[in-house]
Amino acid sequence: MDWTQGFFPETCWKLHEYTNDVKWKEAAHHFQNLFIDAKGNKTTHDLGFMFYCSFGEGYKLTKNEKYKQAVIDASKSLISRYDTTVGCIKSWDFGKEKWTFPVIIDNMLNLEMLFEASILTGDNTYKNIAISHANKTLKNHFRQDYSTWHVVDYNPEDGSVFKKLTHQGISNESSWARGQSWALYGYTMCYRYTKNPKYLEHAKRIASFITENLPDDFVPIWDFDIKDNTIMHKDASAAALYASAYLELYSYTNNTEYKKLATNILKSLSTDKYFSTYGKNRGFLLEHSVGNFPRNTEIDTPINYADYYYLEALLRLKSISK
Ligand code: GLY
Repeated sequence: MDWTQGFFPETCWKLHEYTNDVKWKEAAHHFQNLFIDAKGNKTTHDLGFMFYCSFGEGYKLTKNEKYKQAVIDASKSLISRYDTTVGCIKSWDFGKEKWTFPVIIDNMLNLEMLFEASILTGDNTYKNIAISHANKTLKNHFRQDYSTWHVVDYNPEDGSVFKKLTHQGISNESSWARGQSWALYGYTMCYRYTKNPKYLEHAKRIASFITENLPDDFVPIWDFDIKDNTIMHKDASAAALYASAYLELYSYTNNTEYKKLATNILKSLSTDKYFSTYGKNRGFLLEHSVGNFPRNTEIDTPINYADYYYLEALLRLKSISK
C-alpha cells in the first residue's frame, strides 16, 4: 500500500473526462480495483489521497455505487484516526521514537474526501472533523510569514503542541517546497467546501509567501532553505501543485496575478527542461521531482503526482480560458 497509488487512476479518470475514450475509464477501473481492500486500513491518514483521487473521481463521472461505497468506507477508516482532544486526524503510526501524535501539513488534502463523504451520506460528522482539523492546523502549523512547518507533534492528553519539526524538509525550521503546496491547495479546497472567508484569506497569505520565494523559472528547489549547491534539485511536483492551486484561488478571487503565475509555472514545466521526451521517460510527463530527500528516496526523478497535478492544472487553465 502506498499513498500515491490513487494518482494514476485519477489521471486516467481525467483523461477519460477530457477525451471520452473508454480505454481510460477501463484503465482507471482496473488500477483502482487493485487496492480497493485498503479502504478498511486504519493505520494511515493517506486514505483521502488514495480513495478520493481514484474512486471519488470515478464516482463523479460514473455514479457507480461501488465507488461511492469505497469513498464512504475509506472516510470511516480515516475518521477513526481523529482525536477529539487534539481536534485533528493523526497522520502517522510510525516514528514513535520521534513523536507522539504527528500531524503533517499534507493531511490537509485528505480532508477533501471527508467533505465529499458528508455530501454523499448527509452525515456532517465527516465535514465537522475536516473543519476541526483545518482550524487546528491553521492555528499551529504556520509561522508569522505564513510558511508552514511540516510536522506538528501534539500531546493527546490536552491537545497542546509538543514540538514542530520536519520529516521531508532540510531542517525543522525550513520551508519544504511541497509542504507549502499542500497548505495552499488545502486551504483553497477548504474554502471551496465551506465558503469560510478565513480559509480564503489564509490561502492568499500562503500564496504570497510562495510567490515571493519562487525562482526565475517558477519551479522551486525541493526546500526553500537549501544553501548547498550540490543538493539543489528542482521539485516539479511542488510547482505543478502551486499551478493547480493558484488557478482555483483565481476562480474565487479574480486576481489575475494567480492566473499569470499558474500560466508561467505551466509554461516552464512544458519546456524541454522539465517535460519528458516522448518515449524516453517510462510514460511519465515530467522529470525532476523530489519525493523524500532526507530518506534518500525519489531524488530528481519523475513522480506520478507531479504528472497528475500538472494535468489537472492544464485542464483548469483550459476551462477558464475558453
Ligand atoms: N504526502 C507525502 C509527500 O508529499 O511526500
